Amino acid sequence: QHCFTKSEDGYLYCEGLKVHDIMESVERRPFYLYSKPQITRNVEAYKDALEGLSSIIGYAIKANNNLKILEHLRHLGCGAVLVSGNELRLALRAGFDPTRCIFNGNGKILEDLVLAAQEGVFVNIDSEFDLENITEAAKRAGKKVNVLLRINPDVDPQVHPYVATGNKNSKFGIRNEKLQWFLDAVKELPNELKLVGAHCHLGSTITKVDIFRDAATIMINYIDQIRDQGFEVDYLNIGGGLGIDYYHSGAILPTPRDLIDTVRDLVISRGLNLIIEPGRSLIANTCCLVNRVTGVKSNGSKNFIVIDGSMAELIRPSLYDAYQHIELVSPAPSNAETTTFDVVGPVCESADFLGKGRELPTPAKGTGLVVHDAGAYCMSMASTYNLKMRPPEYWV
Ligand code: LLP
Repeated sequence: QHCFTKSEDGYLYCEGLKVHDIMESVERRPFYLYSKPQITRNVEAYKDALEGLSSIIGYAIKANNNLKILEHLRHLGCGAVLVSGNELRLALRAGFDPTRCIFNGNGKILEDLVLAAQEGVFVNIDSEFDLENITEAAKRAGKKVNVLLRINPDVDPQVHPYVATGNKNSKFGIRNEKLQWFLDAVKELPNELKLVGAHCHLGSTITKVDIFRDAATIMINYIDQIRDQGFEVDYLNIGGGLGIDYYHSGAILPTPRDLIDTVRDLVISRGLNLIIEPGRSLIANTCCLVNRVTGVKSNGSKNFIVIDGSMAELIRPSLYDAYQHIELVSPAPSNAETTTFDVVGPVCESADFLGKGRELPTPAKGTGLVVHDAGAYCMSMASTYNLKMRPPEYWV
């Protein structure tokens, strides 16, 4: 069951409400429209998949940091994955249990680490200088910090290079040849640091679960090595990264269950607690950006649908050449032929497109047009370029 469906009458619905009617009833456009029940269904899918394992679903706040959504995810039992002090502050405000939060990042600053230490969140060690800062934060907070080593397993996630993070030349994590140095360093700091586990994050939009299996196998091997040196590590954190069906092609993509099942035996064999850090796969498909058509034009061999939304509200197509499915919210006249359009915004540069080469009926001015799967990394990456306003958000 999915929240956004085109019904036989040709209108797009969100959980039984006509998106067209919602668009007509709100003041500012474009706007983000979410389905709260879809968020619940997505979390339930992970919870069902994790049954029988001791686990934390650490929702990656960077994907979407709307406070109401955070409160809902917390209410459903999620922990949170943080990448800045402000994300930590927001997580606390949304009521997340700090001992179910994980602070990640290759450039965490001391003052944010002090807050993390005070609150008792898990902190990932990313580098030599990060270890120094975490130690200093522990001293300043007067608290021992539970740390995980972020290991760079050098597994190719087979995704756009901008969202690949676990290859050996990336800026994230610790390579295996340095592992011993970090273990020796942590051993010297028994009052500041308690090593509780190992973490990796391979990248984002991953569509093959074998990749997670390969990484988990490598990570289990590291955990064995770490345990051999007398550390009592109980947590394996395999990060986030599961992709979704942006193409709406009907292709069968791995589900949360497929992901968990591929690592389940490894986790059980070592008696570990599993931490996962999903962002996109929890929130992307719960939302559309709802735009209005400003007009249609052509130049040279190109046809354009110009809408009020743009790269300012939704930058993924411009930044990663990402595909997000586009459709009209109301029915086309029955004899309407489709034309190949680029769907573009009003922003002053040619990077400003939401979709290229889309087959669509020629829309009248004012028609609603949605960009699907806009729940993750869309509002949270929106800007005010050209002094556009960050869009309002509504949920059904
Ligand atoms: N954990 C860590 C350490 C991460 O760096 C990320 C995402 C996640 C978890 C969540 O990954 P997810 O399950 O959402 O794939 N702006 C890009 C995505 C950047 C992802 C950054 N890290 C996009 O729009 O595709």
